[in-house]
Amino acid sequence: MSILIRSVGVSIPEQRISNEELAARVDTTDEWIRSHTGIGARHVAAEGDQTSDLAARSALDALARAKIAPREIDLIVVATATPDYFGFPSTACVIQEKIGALGCAALDVTAGCTGFIYALDVASSMLEARKGRHALVIGADTLTRITDWSDRSTCVLFGDAAGAAVISRIEEGGRGVLGSVLGAEGGGARALYLEQPARDSTFGRPEQVVPVIRMDGKEVYNFAVKSIAVLVERLLHASMYRLEDFSWIVPHQANARIVQAAAKRLGVPESRFYMNIEEYANTSSASIPLALREMVDKGLLVQGQLVMLVGFGSGLTYGAIAIRW
Ligand code: ACO
Repeated sequence: MSILIRSVGVSIPEQRISNEELAARVDTTDEWIRSHTGIGARHVAAEGDQTSDLAARSALDALARAKIAPREIDLIVVATATPDYFGFPSTACVIQEKIGALGCAALDVTAGCTGFIYALDVASSMLEARKGRHALVIGADTLTRITDWSDRSTCVLFGDAAGAAVISRIEEGGRGVLGSVLGAEGGGARALYLEQPARDSTFGRPEQVVPVIRMDGKEVYNFAVKSIAVLVERLLHASMYRLEDFSWIVPHQANARIVQAAAKRLGVPESRFYMNIEEYANTSSASIPLALREMVDKGLLVQGQLVMLVGFGSGLTYGAIAIRW
């Protein structure tokens, strides 16, 4: 038995903001952003679009590519840090209604930028436990909505997007998801968090407040570089494969410099890491499916190849998954 990734769908907002356009509004330059992050532009969700709208479009795209009808889906697992609703209902339930996958199980996973890895692991495990045949794994975020645009050290980093994978349990063994490593360092929770302004707790209607991203850039940077190296080593140890067996490492697209430093630490050529941060910036839990879809479109993923997905993010969380494509 295997858990196979059948297709990857995406939804990328049309509105694109280049570094130069951003520099007209924020005290920054194209040169600084590119040299410190590798980012050249970001896409921003249209007014009125919520995370679930981007997510539903990416899900329908993935379903069409897999030739699977929404009603055949048994499970939806959504990774997001920007849910439509605070607390409940889950964004997965909202998406279920929007795509017409009525009746299936639906839940959200909170793991920051590691969200897609966590969600894929949760959904694969549930399918392995025979809780259904087909699942949708979605990473969707609209981080520009919770960005503090007066904080130039964070506001240049993020973009909005959604990516979805249709995964299926098949009888044939040795393909698809081969193994995973997940972890967290809760002690680093305050290195990257959503600041919630104080609410009025007296009787009456609570104030509507929008949380904003707060980040200790250096701490996250160090954690991310260390995490990639540790994850790769742990995954290799668990899977009995060698690093050179993997055709691609697909990292969470947070910062090109993080990937360069991790590649150096592992002694792997940077070209084995797939990067597309230049166009989309950091789209949080959408970044890995966005990269996968681009690779599919470019013909870079060939059936039988070994591919490693590596993520890190708020929590602090980290995770990696080995896949035979
Ligand atoms: N434009 C121009 N100057 C800037 C900007 C900007 N956008 N942002 C910061 N600076 C200035 C600072 O004010 C500072 O100036 P000073 O020396 O006069 O005080 C100088 O640049 C250096 O600032 P640092 O914060 O030290 O810059 P650093 O080299 O650490 O880069 C960065 C900041 C890019 C955020 C880096 O710390 C980093 O990549 N951290 C990793 C965090 C990350 O990628 N997070 C993404 C989300 S988390 C995730 O996905 C897991």
